Amino acid sequence: MSSALSPIDPNRPSAARIYDAYLGGTHNFAADRAVADRAAEILPEVPLIARANRDLLRRIVRYAAARGVHQFLDLGSGIPTENNVHQVAREVAPDARVVYVDLDPTAVLYARHLLGDDTQTAIVRGDLRQPAAILAAPEVRDLIDLGRPVAILMIAVLHFMPDGPELDAALHAYREAVAPGSLLAISHVTTNGEPEPTARIAELYNRTGTPLVVRDAARTARFFEGWRLVEPGLVPGPRWRPDDGPVSDAERYLTLAGVAER
Ligand SMILES: C[S@@+](CC[C@H](N)C(=O)[O-])C[C@H]1O[C@@H](n2cnc3c(N)ncnc32)[C@H](O)[C@@H]1O
Repeated sequence: MSSALSPIDPNRPSAARIYDAYLGGTHNFAADRAVADRAAEILPEVPLIARANRDLLRRIVRYAAARGVHQFLDLGSGIPTENNVHQVAREVAPDARVVYVDLDPTAVLYARHLLGDDTQTAIVRGDLRQPAAILAAPEVRDLIDLGRPVAILMIAVLHFMPDGPELDAALHAYREAVAPGSLLAISHVTTNGEPEPTARIAELYNRTGTPLVVRDAARTARFFEGWRLVEPGLVPGPRWRPDDGPVSDAERYLTLAGVAER
């Protein structure tokens, strides 16, 4: 399913590589770093927000694995960095199976390199808005048993997609495809009542060809339609089951997070 998708273009900033730059990674080009630097000028917390999001991902994966969900479909998985889903999941569940999915050729290239001949993990290049193609991919069919619970991860990805019937239909299709006991995990950029910096960052991304859609809690909650949010519900990311007790300035991270069960 990758043939119609674009090749790596170092001059066109990509959301995956910009994010890698926020995290201090090396899989990015000058054009990506220029956007990352500008975003950090507008909002100096941006690298902290990205790191907090990776911490959140780790907590979500551990939560799912501890609940007995040992299959993961990570949609918009990004460029591999530390604490990748398969590594975290296997700390709790050595039999964990993970399929990463990303649209970005750089993310897919590095994930393939990282995974090598790992038989429990695979990467598929694809658009999460095409659930039929994703779910029919041989890697998904080989590794994920849709008759058993699966954790669908959409971490820091839905804010790269505009509202519309295609997105709604995709969310509906994933929900219909998975077994009871499955989980949906979402983290999403929000404004924290101060729209100005996020609007300026959205404007920056619009110019890169990967538009950013900032959503409020009510709109983000709609992504969970047909699912039941688990405690503590849809909350600022650092407040989602923190490792070290209550977090005081969680709103500052401009991220909403929730996990729901089917
Ligand atoms: C900010 S990164 C987040 C990566 C990872 N989920 C994390 O939280 O660390 C967003 C990723 O979503 C990918 N992406 C954006 N739109 C996508 C789509 N329609 N289908 C699949 N992946 C997409 C981008 O290529 C990028 O790698």
